[in-house]
Amino acid sequence: MRIVRSAPAIQRLALRCRRAGRRLGFVPTMGCLHAGHVSLMHRARRSVGPRGLVVVSIYVNPTQFGPTEDLAKYPRDFARDLKLCRAAGVDVIFAPADREMYPGKAESRYSTYVVEERLSRGMEGASRPTHFRGVATVVAKLFNLVLPDMAVFGAKDWQQAAVVRRMVADLNFPVKIIVAPTVRERDGLALSSRNKCLTPDQRAQATVLHRALQRARAAVNRRAVPAAQLKADLARFIALQPLARLDYVEFFDPDTLTPVSRVRRRSHLALAVFFGKTRLIDNGQL
Ligand code: PAJ
Repeated sequence: MRIVRSAPAIQRLALRCRRAGRRLGFVPTMGCLHAGHVSLMHRARRSVGPRGLVVVSIYVNPTQFGPTEDLAKYPRDFARDLKLCRAAGVDVIFAPADREMYPGKAESRYSTYVVEERLSRGMEGASRPTHFRGVATVVAKLFNLVLPDMAVFGAKDWQQAAVVRRMVADLNFPVKIIVAPTVRERDGLALSSRNKCLTPDQRAQATVLHRALQRARAAVNRRAVPAAQLKADLARFIALQPLARLDYVEFFDPDTLTPVSRVRRRSHLALAVFFGKTRLIDNGQL
């Protein structure tokens, strides 16, 4: 497994790989890897085959964090990440320093961003106004450096995957986007690097996100329900956990992300809940 730190070096490697006719599969991450990330690596391998090259990027991208968010505290464990990648059969790790991605002091010389204007407005975009600008920008840069045939994203970040898909279509990136299912703990909690930030009490109550999803599924099993009514019910349900503070709960069309006024089977639910300063998200089809 090769570890590449410089932007020109990964681009040269990718060009050589493509000239040799090898397929290249890409999994972008911010590190602190877990079984959710590993499932994406296996998905990439399945797609490119044994002769293909699987590249994983590990980069905590500053431009997708807001000024009051957890950039400095975002968990990092590079040594453990390398072990997981090696075990998953990854060929190349791209782990750039900030100066490789955003040259110049405090991003002062960096001035080109990718802004998706429709799918990134609601939900995560409403709570974190510059988040998707940072995500779209870094993913575009990574695609230009890694030059993948295909890239795998997790359904855990449903809106992110939708924004990336739209960016790829709108800006004509020759990259196939695959969305892989959310990997969960046995008690339903979606795996997330941020779960490490929870206290034991918060961890116990954090299953409320998944339980809210199941509660909504049960509510719309036989009939459609007004979204406002189900939102109020879920807000009360989440408030039963003393350490939980609801950020948003939204029902929407899974492709367009447009909110729906009546919730039915196959509508999509997404929610964000704070436990102290740690913010967890989850989503799923009903
Ligand atoms: P990160 O949060 O590290 O996630 C990297 C990828 O892993 C994303 O596609 C995410 O959806 C997926 N993932 C996370 N938890 C998962 C789970 N429990 N099951 C399945 N997949 C899961 O998302 C980012 O990093 C960044 O925004 C990034 C795309 C790398 C751009 O900086």
